[in-house]
Amino acid sequence: MISEQLETIKEQLLAEINGAERVNQIGQIRAKAFGKSGSISALSKGMRDLSPEERPKFGAMINELKKVIEESLSLKEGELEEIELKNKLESEQVDITEPSNIREIGALHPIADVIDRLTDICVDMGFSVVEGPEIESDYYNFEAMNIPKNHPSRDMQDTFFITDEILLRSHTSAVQAREMETRKPPFKIICPGKTYRNDSDATHSPIFHQIEGLVIDENISMADLKSMLTILMRRLYGNDTKIRFRPSFFPFTEPSIEVDVSCPSCHGKGCKICKGSGMLELLGAGIVNPKVLEMSGIDSKKYRGFAFGFGLDRTAMILNSINNIRNFYRNDIRFLEQMK
Ligand code: PHE
Repeated sequence: MISEQLETIKEQLLAEINGAERVNQIGQIRAKAFGKSGSISALSKGMRDLSPEERPKFGAMINELKKVIEESLSLKEGELEEIELKNKLESEQVDITEPSNIREIGALHPIADVIDRLTDICVDMGFSVVEGPEIESDYYNFEAMNIPKNHPSRDMQDTFFITDEILLRSHTSAVQAREMETRKPPFKIICPGKTYRNDSDATHSPIFHQIEGLVIDENISMADLKSMLTILMRRLYGNDTKIRFRPSFFPFTEPSIEVDVSCPSCHGKGCKICKGSGMLELLGAGIVNPKVLEMSGIDSKKYRGFAFGFGLDRTAMILNSINNIRNFYRNDIRFLEQMK
């Protein structure tokens, strides 16, 4: 009886083991065979009903059964584990050549950053932001700025001419004339943009940036220009910035001045950035020459104006302690990454 039972249990368990498809089924079969109420455990309990002579024989048979079942369980378990691992490796393959989806976080280019800062300050002071063409006529770039053809003051700017009459604008002052022709005073404008000159070294680039400011109103005086520039420079470089005005010459302003600020890096003590002088030359400005107003159709008896213009590359170099202007145009990611 017991030997028949034993045989059926063995067949059943082996068939189940054979049919198992997943590793966790092996655990279930093991529990079914060896668990407290498992089939092999039940057989062992049945030994109690046997005569003492029969017991050792069946005991040995049960032990043999246990061994056979345990062996085939382990064997199958190993096989299934291997298959499952293989499937997992195939389905979870990592393609190391696939482009990563980690996005680099960019930063504003230092020039764009300076344009943003300056326009914010000027917009706070009531200026409107305008733009003009980079390919400009000789008229707006020079003649309307009181720089006639063949006049020596043209030499101040090494200009890229495209034809005799068309050029790459050498300063943003060209936008002044365009705006004065179309706007009715009073008005306050700034024009940031690209400018071009045939000049190239560590502090000059053939393409660079300027910002132009123009205010036209009645009763404009040098005092308005000075106070406006003082506020602008202090907001840009800090409240303790000292400002120095020096007489200068521009054909389109009379009188003309140049403006220096105390070096924001050493606060006037003298350092590498200001070449020991404690001051930095920053911009040109002045009272708009009445001839320029008249050429653009503005009544110079009624209106006066002031204008200023300065290089944004130089401003960005000072603000970020950059010593070579070419860094702005090389697109070297290592340079740009430092701007984050
Ligand atoms: N356009 C002058 C330059 O490029 C700067 C300037 C602008 C000076 C406005 C006076 C008034 O050098």
